Amino acid sequence: MAEPLILPTDFNNKSELYNTILPQIFTLWQHEKDIIANLSNTTAILKEVLGHFWIGFYLWKENQLVLGPFQGTLACTRISLGKGVCGKAAEEKKILIVPNVHEFPGHIACSSFSNSEIVVPLINDNQQLKGVLDLDSIHFNEFDEVDALYLQKLCKFIANQI
Ligand code: SME
Repeated sequence: MAEPLILPTDFNNKSELYNTILPQIFTLWQHEKDIIANLSNTTAILKEVLGHFWIGFYLWKENQLVLGPFQGTLACTRISLGKGVCGKAAEEKKILIVPNVHEFPGHIACSSFSNSEIVVPLINDNQQLKGVLDLDSIHFNEFDEVDALYLQKLCKFIANQI
């Protein structure tokens, strides 16, 4: 059972928006133990609130990233370590903000609509890689340090739950 999402009627900046939704996502995870259900609802909330073109998880399984719950169009299912933005972020265990995906060497184009991207690795407190969260936008230069800050908090939390 999911409670309705509570959103500010007007907000001044992205931080305010993230500060409103993150606690609600954490609550969601506290009330349900099924990982797929929680990852699915997390992508639904992010998509509803942030509205980007594609938002989803790739999970670290058998030494590769495998497509997990997402919101958006058809996506590639398996990404090797070091390949594309997702594989690079996973390999380096660091957040990658790509203002123009067409300039990123080896970018994997799941959709020609995507122009910028942020990939946040899921790293737990034991420094284990659990996957990545990938957000794609039709706009160039969509993502910044504010996204990185809050999505890192979210991904750290999730990495410790899965
Ligand atoms: N663009 C990503 C691949 C995943 S999709 O965009 C959903 C990449 O280069 O890793």
